[in-house]
Order: sequence, then C-alpha cells, then structure tokens
Amino acid sequence: MTARLLRGRVLSFRAKPESVDDRAAYVFEEDGGIFIRDGRIEAVGDFSLISAEARDAEIIDHRPHILMPGFIDAHAHFPQMQIIGSYGAELLDWLNTYTFPEETKFSDTQHGRRIARLFLDEMVRHGTTTVAAYCSVHKESAEAFFAEALSRDMLAIGGKVMMDRNAPEGLRDTPQAGYDDTKALIAEWHGKGRLHYAITPRFAITSSPEQMEMAGALARERRDLHIQTHLSENHAEIAFTQELYPAAEDYTDIYAQYGLLGPKTLLGHCIHLSEREADLLSDTGSVAVFCPTSNLFLGSGLFDWQRYSKRSKPLRIAAATDVGGGTNYSMLRTMDEGYKVIALQGEKMNPLAAFWQITFGNAKALSIEDRVGTLDPGTDADIVVLDARATPGMALRMETVETLAEELFLLQTLGDDRAIREVYVAGRAAKSSIADR
Ligand code: GUN
Ligand code: ZN
Repeated sequence: MTARLLRGRVLSFRAKPESVDDRAAYVFEEDGGIFIRDGRIEAVGDFSLISAEARDAEIIDHRPHILMPGFIDAHAHFPQMQIIGSYGAELLDWLNTYTFPEETKFSDTQHGRRIARLFLDEMVRHGTTTVAAYCSVHKESAEAFFAEALSRDMLAIGGKVMMDRNAPEGLRDTPQAGYDDTKALIAEWHGKGRLHYAITPRFAITSSPEQMEMAGALARERRDLHIQTHLSENHAEIAFTQELYPAAEDYTDIYAQYGLLGPKTLLGHCIHLSEREADLLSDTGSVAVFCPTSNLFLGSGLFDWQRYSKRSKPLRIAAATDVGGGTNYSMLRTMDEGYKVIALQGEKMNPLAAFWQITFGNAKALSIEDRVGTLDPGTDADIVVLDARATPGMALRMETVETLAEELFLLQTLGDDRAIREVYVAGRAAKSSIADR
C-alpha cells in the first residue's frame, strides 16, 4: 500500500480528562499530520515536522476538520438492524415480540451475509472502526460477520450467541452444540486478520446451568478471549433471573460462579447493581458497558456513571450503541444521550471525557489499546475525520464556538453520520469507498 500523510487538526487522548481544562490528558495539533504506511501509523505530530519525514507520501488535506482515532462501539447486535425502533415494549417483551423472531431469520446464510455487510457499512458511515458484536445463535451468522469484517481489514470482536432455553424453536442451541460451534468458530476466525472471538452466552435467562458450565469451560480453556453477556438491565429481567438461579446471591454471582468474570468480560447494561455486585465487578476487572440510547428507549434505567467511576472500587466502563435495543448507530448520538442520562442524575460528563471514552477509553476497556484508540506510532491506522460544520445549524453554532471542548460538545450534541467526513480503516479510505460502491 502507498504511504499517506493526512493533514488536519489532530486529537488523541493520553488519559481520561477530568475536566474541560485537563490539558495534560490529550494531545492536540492545530496543524497536524498523521503519516501512515502499510495500514499502520508511522509518525504523528506537527505537520511541517511530519511532512519532512514523509516525503514519498500522498498528502490528503482534511483541514479544517479534526482527525482522531476511529470510534469503538463496545456492544451491538448485528442481527437486529431490521427491528431498530420497534414500538412499545420493555426488555423481555421486546425480546420475545421483536428480537427473537427477527434473529431466527439468521439461519439463512444469505440473509446473514447481507445484514453483516450492511451493518459494517453503517458502522463505518458513522465513524466506528471497531465493534464488539453479538451475532445470532446460528454459527453461519458469526461466519458472515467475521468474513465481512475480514474483507474490510477491520478490528472486530464477535461471537455466536449461546442460548438454549426461554427462546423460540429455531433460536436455541444445546450446551454441547453451543460449545462445539463456539470452538469451531474460534479455531477458524480468532486471530485471522484483526479479528477477535468473544465467548457469548446471551444472558442467564437464555442459558441453562449446563450451558453456563460449558461457557465457563470455554473461558477456562481460552483465558485470552473476550466474554460478552448482559447483566442487570431491567427489573423484570433481574427477578426472572433470580428465579432461574435461586442459589445465586445475586445476578452477578451467577456469572462469577461459572467463572465468567474477568478483565476481558464485557457486561452490557449493569444498571441496577448493588454495592456488592459493583465490588465484584471491580475486583475482577470486568467491564460495565453503558448503552444510553437503549437504556432510555427500553425504559431500563439510568446507568450511574459517576457512582461507578468515582466509588472507592471503581468500575472499568465502556460505551456502546446496543443496536437494535439502541436507537442509533452513531457513537456521537450515543454520547449525547449518555450526557443526558448523567445530567438526569445531577452530574455532567465533560465533552473531552466523552471523546476519550469512545476512543482510548473503549480501547482500554476492550484491552485493544495496543492496536487502536490512540494515534501512537506502530498502531493501526483507524482514523475518523470530523466536520463540526456538517449541517447549516452546526455551521451557525460554530460561529460562536471558541474552544476545542466546545467544538467537541457541538459535534456530540448535533452531530451524526453527516459529521463524519471520512473514515480510514487500516489506512484505507473506507467511508468514501462505500459511497462509491
Ligand atoms: N438481553 C439479552 N439479550 C438482549 C438483547 O438482544 N438486547 C438487549 N438490550 N438486552 C438483552
Ligand atoms: Zn445487548
């Protein structure tokens, strides 16, 4: 691949910004350059210095737009694209009425391939270069997802959902089939290109104790893999879960007992945790995934970001769309809703922290910060180009914006896919290539 030098206003984070004045937490070059060779970042910094080093590179001038690491979505369901915005239900009814019937369609390989392609198109169009995705129970759906991500050279995390009860015919595996299919998928896809396999028991309601045992066995065999599941999203869900696992102390204890907690465990929602449960997540380094558009849409509750991040045993936190319980593919729209969730609890999320979260913060939560989420030399060139004047209303508001933090907050509050001017995946222009297709 040819060498490329991107020019623009370059932003990356070093740590979580504690306030809008936390200048030490980020690096910002008003006239910056990112030198990319063979899909990796070779050098980053002041444009005049970098251009001296990158004499053979093709220059792509993105000024006055902001270049930053591509966004990371820590939890989404690719088979739910055609049920986004399904009206009028809370979690369990929503699953039974809309979600499970929809996911049965993914026994059809062609359907899975089509939706996987459209899903990753939507991710890229919205500036997301890495997603941790749930596939359906069908092995073919995971194959479709991984094949599509591989063909785009995306860093993607995915897993076939394991679910063997409390779901319709056609959407259940068995403990043995779930184990065997997962093992076969790991062997075929994990480590191929930039792909990562996540062991994916859907949640305790849809997995029998025997299946949870099998998920735990997989986790013990492959401690290097991610695990993704759902935890404590909705009061009816929690009550039903406790009926199904009466011996467990609480919902979190179920996952603990089967050996499913740890630093690579991603737990969607975590809204209604007791202090004991939060301590357990903190002690094990498990990640609580904040899904604001979904939590508001399904009326699940308010994720207590401040309590979780400021308690004496803080939680590791990621942010995610949770499409299709979530209502938007955009991490900008997601953090806008996240800001409001936190505002409803009397706190403010500073815009620098929001952009840290969807880049470096999520990369750390997913343990992939050695590859993505920063612009450090040697890492993969996944980059998003942001235009804070993307619409007439944004351009007008920009006339009164004076600081970088204000510009980011405007992007978060009014921005969507129109604010994503370009996306580079492993150094290749990915958004414009979708438009050209
Ligand atoms: N809990 C179990 N499955 C799901 C799902 O598909 N979406 C959400 N939001 N919660 C879940
Ligand atoms: Zn989910």
